[in-house]
Amino acid sequence: MRTTVGIIGGGPAGLLLARLLHRAGVDCVVLEARTRAYAEHRQRAGMLEQGTVDALRACGAAGRLDAEGLVHGGIELRFDRERHHIDFPALTGGRTVTIYAQTEIVKDLIALQLADGPPLLFEAEALAVEAPETSAPRVRFRHEGRERTLDCDWVVGCDGSHGVARDAFPAGAVRTYTHDHPYSWLGIMADVAPSCDELIYARGEGGFALHSMRSPTVSRLYLQVPPDTDLGDWPDDRIWDELAARFAVDADWTLERGPVTAKSLTSMRGHVHEPLRHGRLLLAGDAAHIVPPTGAKGLNLAVSDVRLLARAFLALHRTGSEELLDRYSRECLARVWQATRFSHEMTRMLHTHPDGDPFEDRLQLARLRRIASSRDAAAELAANYTGLPLER
Ligand code: FAD
Ligand code: DHB
Repeated sequence: MRTTVGIIGGGPAGLLLARLLHRAGVDCVVLEARTRAYAEHRQRAGMLEQGTVDALRACGAAGRLDAEGLVHGGIELRFDRERHHIDFPALTGGRTVTIYAQTEIVKDLIALQLADGPPLLFEAEALAVEAPETSAPRVRFRHEGRERTLDCDWVVGCDGSHGVARDAFPAGAVRTYTHDHPYSWLGIMADVAPSCDELIYARGEGGFALHSMRSPTVSRLYLQVPPDTDLGDWPDDRIWDELAARFAVDADWTLERGPVTAKSLTSMRGHVHEPLRHGRLLLAGDAAHIVPPTGAKGLNLAVSDVRLLARAFLALHRTGSEELLDRYSRECLARVWQATRFSHEMTRMLHTHPDGDPFEDRLQLARLRRIASSRDAAAELAANYTGLPLER
């Protein structure tokens, strides 16, 4: 097999890149290790920045998103048993965010790709990227019980945080920056109408809690727990009791409970791989960087990475110039570090430290109170949350 751009990974990054390249007339092939059903049902993100929605719209992948997505004009911060609304349109000149599940984006992009797009192979596991420093890189992969080779002009690793593309960077040419937070998130999906109109980020006495949603009848909630948590110790009633305690406010408000349909644990870490290019191999999405989930930047960053990459491949295709590809790593990393900073600050502001440092507790509350009382501080949060412009 041969193609211009070999894409490893059929998550949001790989699928959107394939869509953008296809529309620009650049030939590509996507290799996805898992089955279609697995890729379509992996529960993850839900909050989309305006730029992500615009990008999906621009490539014809937003029909269902426009019909079913929930547009939110802000978030609520809760601390000290008080509620504070952060009004995004008023603070950002009209920007909003949209709730639409990652599973649905993946389904929409897969359907488009299979209808008229370039090849997308499921159960095609990349084993290695070879010769990335030459003009003829290759992906060795396993498909239908056979080892095969995809000959490419360029290879893009969109293979997530456990992928193989990164392994083709020589050790001496790479630096990774990592930070582990001393807590995890226990996430649930529940068949109950959300108890709120917009997302609630709460710093409760017992730690952080987040109330999100997937639809008018499905709630998505998260709870800060210790990293060594065993889900077996968290029966549904205990989860609901703890959530209710962390969201408690003096105003009249009740957390509605319902059947829990899924439970998961997510560790909280920041990880950035530098640079994002080695020869003709480039990285995008979780293959390149992981942010802790507070602030919902992971999927949005994956989308902005591939928008930059698609522009660069389009310029190469039209003019033969590699200039934008040469700039990709630097430009993309500048944005990645801004999102990493924001996710890190949101995480540190909202989670209680397991060692219970009372000084740090007071600082967190002072930060939250500053955002609740200063338009400038709230505007800074709103600008980052709704997404910094791609050009910055
Ligand atoms: P992935 O989605 O991981 O896709 C990588 C793909 O590559 C997978 O399909 C995988 O099977 C495939 N693959 C791996 N190895 C190989 C191989 N060797 N060969 C072929 N294929 C391979 N982000 C947000 O923006 N907003 C949110 O609200 C949000 N909430 C989150 C909540 C949770 C609980 C979690 C865990 C994450 C959340 N994120 C959020 C992060 C977001 O889900 C990820 O950043 C996003 O999935 C990144 O997309 P990706 O395509 O880069 O990687
Ligand atoms: C969701 C996840 C997040 O990490 C976040 O900050 C907001 C929403 C979600 O899964 O809906």
